[in-house]
Amino acid sequence: MGGKFLFDGRPVPFEEGQTILEAARAAGHYIPHLCWHPDFPPHGSCKLCVVKVGGRHVSSCALPARDGMEVESNTPEINGERRALLQMLFVEGNHFCPSCEKSGNCQLQALAYELDMSSARFAHFYPDRPVDASHPDVLLDFNRCIFCELCVRASRDVDHKGVFALTGRGIRKHLVVNAESGRLADTDFAVSDRAADICPVGVILRKRVGFAVPIGERKYDEAAISSVAMEKGE
Ligand code: SF4
Ligand code: FES
Repeated sequence: MGGKFLFDGRPVPFEEGQTILEAARAAGHYIPHLCWHPDFPPHGSCKLCVVKVGGRHVSSCALPARDGMEVESNTPEINGERRALLQMLFVEGNHFCPSCEKSGNCQLQALAYELDMSSARFAHFYPDRPVDASHPDVLLDFNRCIFCELCVRASRDVDHKGVFALTGRGIRKHLVVNAESGRLADTDFAVSDRAADICPVGVILRKRVGFAVPIGERKYDEAAISSVAMEKGE
C-alpha cells in the first residue's frame, strides 16, 4: 500500500516498496548520493543520502517510505553532516582534483561544490595504494576509491565477470582486481563493460581520452550535480 509523506514540508506520494530516495526523486526532489545508482539495488555505504525522520538519522536510499512520515533533507544541519562525510572521503583518499582527469565530471567533487565544502577540515591520510596501468585501454588509480562498490556490482551482476572486489576491513578496506597477479590486464575486463563507466570518481579511467573536454564544458561546469542528476535520471 502506498501513501504520502512530508519531504521538507512538502507532500510526496509513494508506491509500496519505494524508498524515501526513490519517491522523493520521482516527485522532483534531489537527495545527494554517491553509492546509489538507479540501475542497482541500494548499497548504503556512503551515507550522503542521510535524512532525518522523526529525529533519527536514516539512509534514504535504503529506508522504505511509510505513510505520514516527516522527512528532513535539505536543512543546514543535514547538509553540514553531508559536508563532513565528504570531507572524510576527501582526506581518506588522494583526491587532488587539480591533477585528476575526472575533475569536472566527478560526483564527489561536484557534491563538495554543491554543499559548499571549502576546506579539507580533517588531516589527510595520504594513502599509498598502487596505480594499475597494465590494461591497454583502462587505468586504475586505487587512491581515489570511495568504496561505493558500483564497479563490483556492475562487473558481477551486469558484465557477469566479477573483475573487482572490496577486501580488508576498516581503514584497510580497499579495492582489488580479481586476478592472481592483481593486475587488470590479467582479467577479461573490456572497455565496453558496464563497469568501465560506472565509477563516480576518478578510479577507473579510459586511456587516451583524459582532459579531452575543455574547462567550461565538463559535466558539472555549467550546472550543479543536483540539477544534472535529476535531468539525466542519475
Ligand atoms: S573503483 Fe569507483 S566504482 Fe569501484 S568501488 Fe571504487 S569508487 Fe566505487
Ligand atoms: S546513497 Fe544512500 S548510503 Fe550511499
